Amino acid sequence: MSGRFITFEGGEGAGKSTQARMLADLLEARGLNVVLTREPGGTPGAEAIRELLLDNRHDWDVRAEALLFAAARSDHVENAIGPALDRGDWVVCDRFIDSSRAYQAGGDDLSDDAILSLHTIGSFALMPDVTFLLYAETDAIASRLAARDGDESDRIGGRPAEYHARVAQRFRDLAAMDPERFILIDASGTPDVVHERVLRAMAPLLGEGG
Ligand code: TYD
Repeated sequence: MSGRFITFEGGEGAGKSTQARMLADLLEARGLNVVLTREPGGTPGAEAIRELLLDNRHDWDVRAEALLFAAARSDHVENAIGPALDRGDWVVCDRFIDSSRAYQAGGDDLSDDAILSLHTIGSFALMPDVTFLLYAETDAIASRLAARDGDESDRIGGRPAEYHARVAQRFRDLAAMDPERFILIDASGTPDVVHERVLRAMAPLLGEGG
């Protein structure tokens, strides 16, 4: 079976990293070659840009921020995701282009088209085959984040609740615009329960029927 490109998206603290890892482990256990990666980051160059992006000492405006995310993604696609897909590996990525569309667009400054143009320049407009959008009630997320980050939230994670509510709405809008690619996953419950929901949705992709 040839490789697929699967992404996990959603707001902060929805459990994307855990679910991406659990899915990658499962695919590997089935004998598939899997690359588990994340954004911003995934290559040494993109991880260096990640540091710049998330460091509270910098005050990037929204355009510079969008360009830096696009630059990090370009390096990631060129040096990790693209080669893996060319080999026929499966790629499981914690955040990708839809995070830029949800976080950097949607305000007054940048349109979705502008973000997609940057993606065309940076990454040949590569889109995932499947995107799992993990959604959870805001209160549940707030308590997970408090447990995870305490006072250590990063430059974007530390933005006000209204910003994150807008991002969550943007993700829902993106999913509604592209129902073929997006699969909505209720992120409430234990990691095992959420993993089961992901697996059920994965079955057709693994040739196991619906
Ligand atoms: P990270 O710690 O990876 O995310 P999470 O909180 O999901 O564990 O931090 C990445 C931050 O960068 C997160 O706040 C989302 C944000 N982000 C964007 O704003 N645009 C993007 O394109 C990407 C990939 C991430």
